[in-house]
Order: sequence, then structure tokens, then C-alpha cells
Amino acid sequence: MDKPVFTIRRAEPSDAEAMRQIFSSPNAIRGTLQLPYPSTENWRKRLAEPVDGSFNLLACAENEVVGQLGLFTFPNHPRRRHVGQIGMAVRDDWQGKGAGSALMQAAIDLADKWLNLSRLELEVYTDNEPAISLYKKFGFVTEGTLQRFAYRDGQFVDVYAMARLREANN
Ligand SMILES: CC(C)(COP(=O)(O)OP(=O)(O)OC[C@H]1O[C@@H](n2cnc3c(N)ncnc32)[C@H](O)[C@@H]1OP(=O)(O)O)[C@@H](O)C(=O)NCCC(=O)NCCS
Repeated sequence: MDKPVFTIRRAEPSDAEAMRQIFSSPNAIRGTLQLPYPSTENWRKRLAEPVDGSFNLLACAENEVVGQLGLFTFPNHPRRRHVGQIGMAVRDDWQGKGAGSALMQAAIDLADKWLNLSRLELEVYTDNEPAISLYKKFGFVTEGTLQRFAYRDGQFVDVYAMARLREANN
């Protein structure tokens, strides 16, 4: 079968229901800091009033929204203007088909070529092998382990702090 082609675009308030669907799927909740029972209305508000310096990108397969990536920058913190933080999730029934890679490539292009960010950082649960593989594929390295970082399904869990540093002249 041909590999699916994903288009990437910015999220709009009208994508709130698609966001609710992404974060209604068990793996997406488990791999992120989201809680079960997401609300379309809460997502609509978040998408309508994005935090300054945030970029919410969507991966679409034939116009269906299947994944999401948030890139958060620090326009009001002069000494952190070179940094972006990333969080992402692909809807469970679309994982492993390339949407995550398409989103990450778009975020890196935005960071490198338009926002001039030289450090991208994220946290990932230490047992989240698909996500860790994806991040390593794009040049992220593990900087350390943060213990008992979050509570997940009845247990505290550790995360790796990972980052991708752009070369000085790139
Ligand atoms: C992690 C996640 C975003 C990856 O997105 P995806 O669309 O599934 O990823 P892709 O299909 O583009 O695969 C990217 C790479 O991840 C790795 N990968 C994907 N699925 C994997 C699996 N089941 N086991 C191990 N590695 C896997 C591979 O290295 C793959 O690269 P390759 O296809 O070139 O070999 C997605 O699985 C997801 O949303 N998971 C639940 C939420 C979550 O964990 N978010 C991350 C928060 S830190």
C-alpha cells in the first residue's frame, strides 16, 4: 500500500472537535500530560486564544486531522528567545504511519528557518519507545532523567529531558 501523504497546517478554533478526538484515544492521553474526558469547548477556547508565541500545527490525511504538534516559544523572555518547547500526539488509529515524522519535520523547519531557534526541548516518558525513537531520528539527545515527573494511570512516572541543538552556523 502507498504511504499516506500528510499536509501540515495551523490549527483553527474550528479544529476543536478533532483535537478532542486525538486526546480521547488512550495512547495519546498516556503519552502526554492530557487528562481523560477532554472537552471540545475547552479546546475551542485554547485554539481561539493561543498563548503568545505558540504554534499549533496539525497533520491532515485527505483533510482529516490525525495529529497535532505544539511549538511553544518565549517571546517575552529575552534570554530564552532561542528556545522552543514541543509537545505532540497522533490519534491512536493513525500512529506508526508517518504523521509524527511529518509534524516534527514541519516544526524543525519552522524553528530553524523562520524562528531562528537553536534549542528545541521536550520531555518524554522513559518507557515511550515510539516517541523516543522519533525524537532520536530528528537529532534529539537525552540530557537527563526527571524523576516522578507526572502521575499517570495510578503511578508516578519518570521522563527524559531531550533536546536538539542546532549547529552554530545552520
Ligand atoms: C509518539 C508519536 C507522536 C509518534 O508519531 P507517529 O505518527 O506514530 O510516528 P511515525 O509513524 O512518524 O514514526 C516515527 C518514528 O517513530 C518510531 N516508531 C514509530 N512507531 C514505533 C513503535 N511502535 N515502536 C518503536 N518505534 C516506533 C520509528 O523510529 C519511526 O521512524 P521510521 O518510520 O522512520 O522508522 C505517536 O506515536 C503518539 O502520538 N503517541 C501517543 C502520544 C505520545 O506519546 N506523544 C509524545 C509525547 S512526548
